[in-house]
Amino acid sequence: MTTEAPQIPANIGLETRIIVAVNESGGSVKTTTVSALAAIAAMGGLDVLVIDADSQRDLAHILGCDDPDADENLATLFDVIDGLAALDEAVIPARRGEGGPVIPHLWLVPGSRRLKELDEKLASATLREMWFNRLLSAVLGRFHVVIIDCPGDLKLTTKGALLSHKDVEVMACVKSQEKEARALTELEATLAEINATFGPFGVDLGIDWVVIGESVSHDSQGKVYVQAEAQLREAYGPLVMSPSVKRSTKVAEAYSAQTALPIFAPRSEAALQYTEIAKGMGLVKP
Ligand SMILES: Nc1ncnc2c1ncn2[C@@H]1O[C@H](COP(=O)(O)OP(=O)(O)OP(=O)(O)O)[C@@H](O)[C@H]1O
Ligand SMILES: [Mg+2]
Repeated sequence: MTTEAPQIPANIGLETRIIVAVNESGGSVKTTTVSALAAIAAMGGLDVLVIDADSQRDLAHILGCDDPDADENLATLFDVIDGLAALDEAVIPARRGEGGPVIPHLWLVPGSRRLKELDEKLASATLREMWFNRLLSAVLGRFHVVIIDCPGDLKLTTKGALLSHKDVEVMACVKSQEKEARALTELEATLAEINATFGPFGVDLGIDWVVIGESVSHDSQGKVYVQAEAQLREAYGPLVMSPSVKRSTKVAEAYSAQTALPIFAPRSEAALQYTEIAKGMGLVKP
């Protein structure tokens, strides 16, 4: 049964942190990480907004809204881009499961499958990489933290998220595989390209956090994974959060239950590892 929707927080002048989850390659634990960290921060009492900027809409699915395009009462991120709603008007409460109880302090802007049309839609727009920047102001000051979940590429949607605010924190999410380290090199190249173009506007992006998910503990589970994680830690040093999040069947179970992992299985090893990461990122009190 759907519980009554609460009011979204008013603008009380909070200094809103903006965290953008990125990786050039798909399936690199971005959405799992965004939903887990957001749920942990919200359970700790922060007002958290997550924005689903991926046409796959997995984040909306995990937070209780499986098909935002099908619900004509909902505004999606694409409707906001289309000028049909302001970003704050597209904010809905996150839920445990489809139509389930509201998760206190956790809010969602649902994605849309139409986000695939973004490149075409903005093809001739001036400063098109800045498309997110003009939208975001409607939610600043209302939330302690906004986390944007990007698609698995570094195209216009991701660039827009990276340029959505002058002080975004770049959170690279990776699996412990060699190709993931290569993907981080690609990400660094894209950040350098953005800095070269937008530096005169005060943009100076770099990787702020690296979160390793679906990692394995022992050589017996896959030596190549253990080595890849060691290489990531060597290359990115203190930017790599500890611990890494171990491979866990609970992640898939939580996805099926349309519930963020730390709410679905709060005492699971993976949820506890995400809690330590959230502490390290200042998303919960130590
Ligand atoms: N700790 C984990 N243990 C087991 N499976 C995991 C873990 N973390 C993520 N996964 C699985 O890995 C897959 C990719 O994760 P996720 O959807 O979070 O990645 P993504 O980067 O958002 O992918 P996409 O680029 O497709 O949006 C999913 O099937 C997810 O369930
Ligand atoms: Mg995803």
